[in-house]
Amino acid sequence: MAQLQATPPRTLSLSGRRSGGGAATRPQRTMVSFRCSSSARGYNITLLPGDGIGPEVVAVAKDALSVAGSKEGFELRFQEMLMGGAALDAVGVPLPDETLAAARNSDAILLGAIGGYKWDNNEKHLKPETGLLSIRAGLGVFANLRPATVLPQLVDASTLKKEVAEGVDIMVVRELTGGIYFGKPRGFGTNDKGEEIGFNTELYAVSEIDRIARVAFEVARKRGGKLCSVDKANVLEASMLWRKRVSAIASEYPDVELSHMYVDNAAMQLVRNPKQFDTIVTNNIFGDILSDEASMITGSIGMLPSASVGESGLGLFEPIHGSAPDIAGQDKANPLATILSAAMLLKYGLGLESAAKRIEAAVTETLDNGFRTGDIYSPGTTLVGCKRMGEEVLKALDSQK
Ligand SMILES: NC(=O)c1ccc[n+]([C@@H]2O[C@H](COP(=O)([O-])OP(=O)(O)OC[C@H]3O[C@@H](n4cnc5c(N)ncnc54)[C@H](O)[C@@H]3O)[C@@H](O)[C@H]2O)c1
Repeated sequence: MAQLQATPPRTLSLSGRRSGGGAATRPQRTMVSFRCSSSARGYNITLLPGDGIGPEVVAVAKDALSVAGSKEGFELRFQEMLMGGAALDAVGVPLPDETLAAARNSDAILLGAIGGYKWDNNEKHLKPETGLLSIRAGLGVFANLRPATVLPQLVDASTLKKEVAEGVDIMVVRELTGGIYFGKPRGFGTNDKGEEIGFNTELYAVSEIDRIARVAFEVARKRGGKLCSVDKANVLEASMLWRKRVSAIASEYPDVELSHMYVDNAAMQLVRNPKQFDTIVTNNIFGDILSDEASMITGSIGMLPSASVGESGLGLFEPIHGSAPDIAGQDKANPLATILSAAMLLKYGLGLESAAKRIEAAVTETLDNGFRTGDIYSPGTTLVGCKRMGEEVLKALDSQK
């Protein structure tokens, strides 16, 4: 798996957070930084189970976190808060103030999924999805980390040929709060000919590029030491600035090999020879598209974790899948994406790399033992539900030294 690499003597933390203190003792940072593994042994985690399969998968991931913590000798204290449709039903808003406050005061946040048919026709401000956008904005998370790892046990789930897919291990670092999705001016209007137009602005400031570049270099340093910056610098001014700044930040990371690629080529290379990539950094819109493309190389939505981190170091960790209302409440959900999100929480949110590795190893062992939920099932393996899959991961964790 992507994360199963040689551990450097110091653990990287994108967080710079200390354990157990909440907001009062949290150091604020302006850039990502190294810190030594914490020796303090308690952390506060906010759980946001949300809707649909969210509560089922978060319950399993919570247990995995607890066991990994106790194996490593630290305690995780959990606080469960309302979000999404569940919050709408209970208190009438998709992101209650108390939920955001609790999240801000914790050391990391684990989210299940939000949404469902019931709220589909609500007004925009009363949609579960509005809660998701609001918590990302409220936490100031500007970097989205999306690993796409083809596990040997699941290589046949990829739509690519086995020899192309096997061994793929990519991390896409996407800028999340700038670029064309937020740039102004935007809107509708009329052109010189009186024709209706729609327009948006791709806009990046140096500070926005520098901070995402630093996150990406830190991530690349912790992985295979290769960073590919994807842009459209042959056409777009915002991309020209992007390339200039990423190249400038590279001087702070002489141990990371930087390359640049145009986005059209990157889209092609991802399906032609995905193994050439280690870590990719790109803007909001390119990252939106490329991270979906990269993750689908793995072929299984129920396996894919993600992390969103910001300058405060506080991170939001969640599977990339939605609330899967079609299978909610049926014990059919694959909990591994959320369990692997929990591993990212330990690694990138708290800087607890060895605990993260425990969870990753337990997932690998469970798959090696042939257990599969319906979404990743193939003949000859053992079909299990969400709970049993969780129990098998816990068993594997428990048996570790
Ligand atoms: N971050 C989020 O919370 C998030 C992300 C995407 C969609 N959503 C919301 O989720 C709801 C459903 O959206 P959708 O159907 O487009 O996407 P989805 O990801 O919920 O489901 C797509 C398909 O994948 C399956 N699937 C998803 N996760 C799975 C898992 N862990 N195990 C097994 N199968 C799984 C589902 O059964 C479904 O067939 C919508 O309300 C949408 O807005 C939320």
